[in-house]
Amino acid sequence: MPYEMILVDTRGEGERRTGFITLNRPKQLNALSDPLMDELGRALRAFDADDGIGCIVLTGSERAFAAGADIPTMAPHTFMSAFKSGLISKNWETILEIRKPVIGAVAGFALGGGCELAMMCDFIIAADTARFGQPEIKLGIIPGAGGTQRLPRAISKSKAMDMLLTARMMDAAEAERAGLVSRVVPAEQLMAEALTAAETINGFSGPSTMLIKELVNLAFQGPLTDGVAIERRYFHALFGSDELKRAYLPRVASGEQIAAFWSDPAHRLGKTWIDHRDINMVMLATSLAPESYLQI
Ligand code: HXC
Repeated sequence: MPYEMILVDTRGEGERRTGFITLNRPKQLNALSDPLMDELGRALRAFDADDGIGCIVLTGSERAFAAGADIPTMAPHTFMSAFKSGLISKNWETILEIRKPVIGAVAGFALGGGCELAMMCDFIIAADTARFGQPEIKLGIIPGAGGTQRLPRAISKSKAMDMLLTARMMDAAEAERAGLVSRVVPAEQLMAEALTAAETINGFSGPSTMLIKELVNLAFQGPLTDGVAIERRYFHALFGSDELKRAYLPRVASGEQIAAFWSDPAHRLGKTWIDHRDINMVMLATSLAPESYLQI
């Protein structure tokens, strides 16, 4: 089915390319309607399932990443209609299920649900024109897609309270200082910067990028001790992957200097995606018998 509210294309060189998804409701400043969120979920899943794609970039227009949830379609809801239809729950969080890295490339307004969607990306690269805010309080509502939870974790309680309670916007420079975005670039360089970051990631081991993403999200979402324990188990499990054995261990084990190894671009393991079932099998084996990964 074709897309009507987003644009989808692939960019870059190399064995794995980057999937670009551009929110495209320019007249409404990319307000996030139900049909748009359905399309976004479909596009994200398609890229995630495509072995030719290593990384996804989610972006909007120069004027707006997204100015929030679509206000006119949200306004008539009652409690019961919102609850029964699964408003937000049913189609806003697909992005959290995506295993490949998702980079948010934000220019212009990222407000309300737009800011929340940007925060669901793995990291945000901002144009110097970007403006972030959670202005829901001006409408007499509150954020509904994680704004009260992700914003304080990203920028501190004090700044989050300030933004959520006063509805003030944060410009790109402040957003970088506060840790909401990872880098700020001139607006005209935003797409090139996002693609360069994505291509760097595409050059690395696919399974490693997926595991790092999963683990960082765990650090963000769960107790530290659980995250560290699961990180250690995944770390051990990787020693059982055929890919790692083929590419890394034999070379180092046969006496090759580590420095020479890392300066050789061929060290990058990202040429093939191992099926995530491989990792799960290793995990299963290691949890049943911790020493058995040595034999896998
Ligand atoms: C629907 C929107 C919209 C939105 C803007 N538009 N934001 N339509 N939903 N969230 C539409 C306007 O109605 C207008 O349409 C057009 O986009 C351009 O907007 P203007 O206001 O004319 O532009 P400007 O003066 O530049 O102001 C830009 C703005 C302002 C500062 C971004 O539009 C604004 O404050 N928008 C609302 C932002 C907001 O409150 N977001 C939170 C929504 S609630 P016309 O047809 O008049 O040209 C939310 C809840 C999330 O996100 C909870 C669950 C996820």
